[in-house]
Amino acid sequence: MRQHSNGSSKGKALLERQSTRLLPGIRSDQLVVRFHACVRASEILLGIFSSDPRGNFRAARTEPSRRTGLESCSFSGFDESGSDNDDACMSNRRLLQCWRLWLVGALCIGSALMAQPGGGPGEGWREPFEARTIPKDDTEKRILSVIEEVGKTQRRGTMIVPEQDGRILRLLAESIGAKHVVELGTSVGYSGLWFCLALERTDGRLTTFEIDEGRATRARENFKRAGVAERVTIVLGDAHETVRQVKDPIDLVFLDADKEGYLDYLRKLLPFVRPGGLIVAHNITPGMADPKYIQAITTDPNLETIFLNLHASGISVSMKKR
Ligand SMILES: C[S@@+](CC[C@H](N)C(=O)[O-])C[C@H]1O[C@@H](n2cnc3c(N)ncnc32)[C@H](O)[C@@H]1O
Repeated sequence: MRQHSNGSSKGKALLERQSTRLLPGIRSDQLVVRFHACVRASEILLGIFSSDPRGNFRAARTEPSRRTGLESCSFSGFDESGSDNDDACMSNRRLLQCWRLWLVGALCIGSALMAQPGGGPGEGWREPFEARTIPKDDTEKRILSVIEEVGKTQRRGTMIVPEQDGRILRLLAESIGAKHVVELGTSVGYSGLWFCLALERTDGRLTTFEIDEGRATRARENFKRAGVAERVTIVLGDAHETVRQVKDPIDLVFLDADKEGYLDYLRKLLPFVRPGGLIVAHNITPGMADPKYIQAITTDPNLETIFLNLHASGISVSMKKR
């Protein structure tokens, strides 16, 4: 038993080495699966070309003259008893078997090679890719530590965005060099802290609107602990009214307050968004998103809209064209 398993593991290792050398990117087990598939496929093909209706293998039969060249043979079936003692026929049968092996081999190598472009070094990877923000310096470390703590301890009942969405917000803001971000729906400041990661780099500021006093107070504390309070203005009250206070150009608007209010916020703030600026909206999923808002951002020729993360929380990103 031991010998057998040693032998098979040695064989497997050899196959692994050979397959890596010959067909990089294809593991030996995948090669074996493909090989078996090819053998079956070629058997079926050969079966079609060389079987009688009952599936019996047909061989080349010689002419009565006993000449042995293939050109003197024709394909025909065995007789009922299966007996065929003709020497030439036997040799032709061997020849046909050789052709059969050759064809199987050719099909196998061909299919393995043809499968290469579809595959890649990561073929067989089943887990979703994951990435997290790696702090670059003490400023990032400080903000990220508060983000992590708020995410862990204040998520409950505060409706804050998932971590990956926070990362998207930071990335969008920083990549457009945002100097002024306007947020509708502060909650406890979680998404605001992600924006602050970007604003620290761009030397920008955040104006954020919240109707709930308790949440606004917690947000103020969180911004303070993260050392970004100077960059943030929290406006307390119903944002449908208070948003009129915005008079400065905006680089990025983030809509995350009352979902049915998105269209009103868009109408009121779009004139202040600079060309090339972004309007980002959260919870853009069927059932959550207001169809009127979707209609507005997908039919306005002045906007270029894409949807991200539709399988999760759903984010729309609309750019105000230049
Ligand atoms: C989904 S939470 C915001 C989460 C936050 N953006 C984050 O990820 O950290 C929505 C917030 O919008 C606030 N809100 C709802 N209606 C509002 C309104 N009319 N004006 C201002 N804030 C409002 C709610 O009180 C709530 O805190």
